[in-house]
Amino acid sequence: MSDSPLSVRWPRSHRRKQEGGKSSKRKQDASPPDKLDDDALMALSAKQFPTPDLFTAAAYAGTCIHAVNNVELVTDCQGVAYWPAEEALLVADLHLEKGSSFARRGQLIPPYDTITTLRRLAGSIDKWQPRKVIALGDSFHDSAASARLTPDARAMLIALMKGREWTWIKGNHDPDPPVDLGGEVMHELRHGNLVLRHEPKAGPAAGEIAGHLHPKARLVRRGRHVRRSCFAASRSRMILPSFGAYTGGLSVFHRAFDGLFEERRFHALMRGDNQVYRISSADLS
Ligand SMILES: [Fe+2]
Repeated sequence: MSDSPLSVRWPRSHRRKQEGGKSSKRKQDASPPDKLDDDALMALSAKQFPTPDLFTAAAYAGTCIHAVNNVELVTDCQGVAYWPAEEALLVADLHLEKGSSFARRGQLIPPYDTITTLRRLAGSIDKWQPRKVIALGDSFHDSAASARLTPDARAMLIALMKGREWTWIKGNHDPDPPVDLGGEVMHELRHGNLVLRHEPKAGPAAGEIAGHLHPKARLVRRGRHVRRSCFAASRSRMILPSFGAYTGGLSVFHRAFDGLFEERRFHALMRGDNQVYRISSADLS
């Protein structure tokens, strides 16, 4: 793949570790298929890059660092991306109050998705301690969603926002995010080499960080398959996985992704239980 995520040459000690990883990969290949769980299966095809010296904090364990338009982002298996240079946490497609939206239309599903999503977001914020949070659109499932937040959910969200620069990027589900919660509402956010928006634009878009498509990747290996939500990323753009509890996924080979990655060359940064796995699109099905 030509879209190697980083141009940095790691120290020799790191390269030895990586070579050691290849050796253990061969050992894993020799293990019987029934010994493989989903994470082991993804690890067989993963092109991991060692953690650079700069990032020695425990928080970086299990992450994948990927450069978009030469800006390093840390992808986390919780489904968020951390932008170290800006101390910013990026999260897409929270779809808060999706459960209550379905209930209003007669589809009764447990109405706990908002609390579940906010608890997970609280975990990510606690882990990364960001100065900024940028929600990449479809944060609320519909225009009345914020009014349906329970008092507990509203209090939890306000507590998460307190003391942080918070940006609500507009999405197709929430073209007018609520202003009473605070935070800045924007159509898109341009900063340095990056442009953050909800829906990816067709064709080349250097530095675009988007959501909306809820990417999922499927890996088949040795007669088994694993399907996980993922970051779809090249050197020039990244599409984040959906974060909301009730949000589904769309195959990275769905026609909605057509034209976003030249010749369908990209990496799926697949979310394992405790590790993000970098899988070449050529290895996906
Ligand atoms: Fe959307």
